[in-house]
Amino acid sequence: MGDARARGLVAVSAAASADELAEVETTLFGRKSVLGQIKQTLGSLDHEHRATVGRALNEAQLALREAHAAAADDLATAARREQLRSEQLDLTESLAGPGRGHLHLVTQTTERLEDVFVGMGFTVSEGPQAETDWYNFEALNLPAAHPARSMWDTLYLDLGERTELGDGEGGEASNVLLRTHTSPVQIRVMEVQPPPIYTICPGRVFRRDTADASHMPVFHQIEGLVVDRGISFTDLAGTLEEFTSAYFGKAISSRLRPSYFPFTEPSAEFDITCVLCEGSGCQTCGRTGWIELGGCGMVHPNVLSNCGIDFEEWTGFAFGFGIDRLALMRHGIDDLRDMYTNDTRFLAQF
Ligand code: DAH
Repeated sequence: MGDARARGLVAVSAAASADELAEVETTLFGRKSVLGQIKQTLGSLDHEHRATVGRALNEAQLALREAHAAAADDLATAARREQLRSEQLDLTESLAGPGRGHLHLVTQTTERLEDVFVGMGFTVSEGPQAETDWYNFEALNLPAAHPARSMWDTLYLDLGERTELGDGEGGEASNVLLRTHTSPVQIRVMEVQPPPIYTICPGRVFRRDTADASHMPVFHQIEGLVVDRGISFTDLAGTLEEFTSAYFGKAISSRLRPSYFPFTEPSAEFDITCVLCEGSGCQTCGRTGWIELGGCGMVHPNVLSNCGIDFEEWTGFAFGFGIDRLALMRHGIDDLRDMYTNDTRFLAQF
């Protein structure tokens, strides 16, 4: 029996697969196995012998069962390891490839601007890029033939018979254009939302311009609008200063200069400390230490009235500036066209 046990243990450890092990199991424990045959002879043994042989038989069976179970475990682990190895993917080739893409610099800049304003309590609003004359001009206190319309070189859309864009109040369907600024979103917000309003409106705008180092026919602006009780020019100046240091850091501040926009009165142009020389004067800022960022002012009473807001009760301020130009200055890029020619060697830097 000792012999059968030793041979059994060798057979178990020699099994190289689950199938082989299953075969070994039959030869070890089946009725025709050596141990099985010994078991069948037990009945014919005398009492004393039966006890001794029975005990030895049990021990042998137990040892073989244990060895068999351990071998089954080992084989299962090995099989699982082999399966994982064969299913493994070699990703080194894709790592060495062109790499993952990332958001365009203008999108990154827009998201950062939104973060700063949202942190100051503003909401984010959006409006359509194809607008009616009413939203883009008239409601903003720019009636037809107003001389200031020439401040925006406009691309008009020829929609033929299609009128589904709607007329807008006082606008003709044939007067549909590509919005020249984000200011029409102010009107859309004020039409539907009663004050108090604290919102920003980022988005794509269009002008009939030839592309050069500082102009593109398609670019991006961000508009800000606040309407509440008792809002004054100081709130405007404070908000812009707060934004400037939050976005650019403490070294950069803002200043206002008198200007003209039909939709604000009074109006101002707002400058920030030149981000390249931090105010000491360089080529980019024309040695003034300041760069112009955008326009702003107190919302004109006519604009509030056009949106059904009582200008005796509510006052507000608005501002707007170019996002692309801001990104350009911040990164010392000297040609706006680089942003849009999709040369990945340029884009991958940001
Ligand atoms: N919409 C103006 C432009 O595109 C910028 C601007 C100026 C927006 C003054 C404003 C504002 O909201 O108050 O040139």
